[in-house]
Amino acid sequence: MIKRVQAWLSRKDGQRPVEISPDNIPQHVAVIMDGNGRWAKRRGLPRIVGHQNGMKAVKRATIAADELGVKYLTMYAFSTENWKRPKEEVEFLMRLPEEFLAIELDELIAKNVQVRVMGDTDGLPSYTRRAMEEAVARTDGNTGLILNFALNYGGRKEIEDCMRSLGQEIQTGALSPEDITTDLINDRLLSGGMPDPDLLIRTSGEMRLSNFMLWQLAYSELWFTDVYWPEFGKEHLLEAVAEYQRRTRRYGGLK
Ligand code: FPP
Repeated sequence: MIKRVQAWLSRKDGQRPVEISPDNIPQHVAVIMDGNGRWAKRRGLPRIVGHQNGMKAVKRATIAADELGVKYLTMYAFSTENWKRPKEEVEFLMRLPEEFLAIELDELIAKNVQVRVMGDTDGLPSYTRRAMEEAVARTDGNTGLILNFALNYGGRKEIEDCMRSLGQEIQTGALSPEDITTDLINDRLLSGGMPDPDLLIRTSGEMRLSNFMLWQLAYSELWFTDVYWPEFGKEHLLEAVAEYQRRTRRYGGLK
């Protein structure tokens, strides 16, 4: 799999080719998929057409990440703040997982992908929750790429819920304050069991975190592109990974 990227890969813009080392592939890539609305507007199309095309980009990113040897791919599909959008847009976004999985689940299974969901799933419409639950159950034993959808997810809510639950355990005596360590918090967040993202990608030129994985992104490398999410393809992932490989991660220490 990794061998495929060992070769020099041509960039669409005809500039310098991108070289990827197979030895330093980010284990966990997290993505803020932004710019669906602007992509549609620029073409005189309704915003939902942007989301529809964003769904196709999810497929391209998943396949590219899998080929590259990424182990975890977390996609920010719907935030706890996205409920503020017009009702029709929210409804459309809530239907997307069902549609995506109806089209793609068999291929994801064939590719050994494991689907996960991270967020307040109780707050989702039943059809969205059911679609995700079915995908999670049917891919549970798969050992390939972990495709983790952040759905009705908010970083602050995640931390708030975690703190509340730890507080309750202290109150009942199941935990003592000294037990609260970074490792324990890592375990208890919705991303428990997954490593922190090594690389965060945000499309559409915006440069903010928008309440995404606030704890987990503490030492992630950030990569921003002006490309709108519906245009995102393998070449952009490769560009992001090539840039990631040029960075020196110091975690607050010295080189
Ligand atoms: C942000 O773009 C995008 C979203 C809030 C939705 C992201 C969802 C998808 C890409 C599809 C998800 C697919 C599956 C399979 C769940 P925006 O609408 O805020 O764009 P704008 O900033 O240009 O308005």
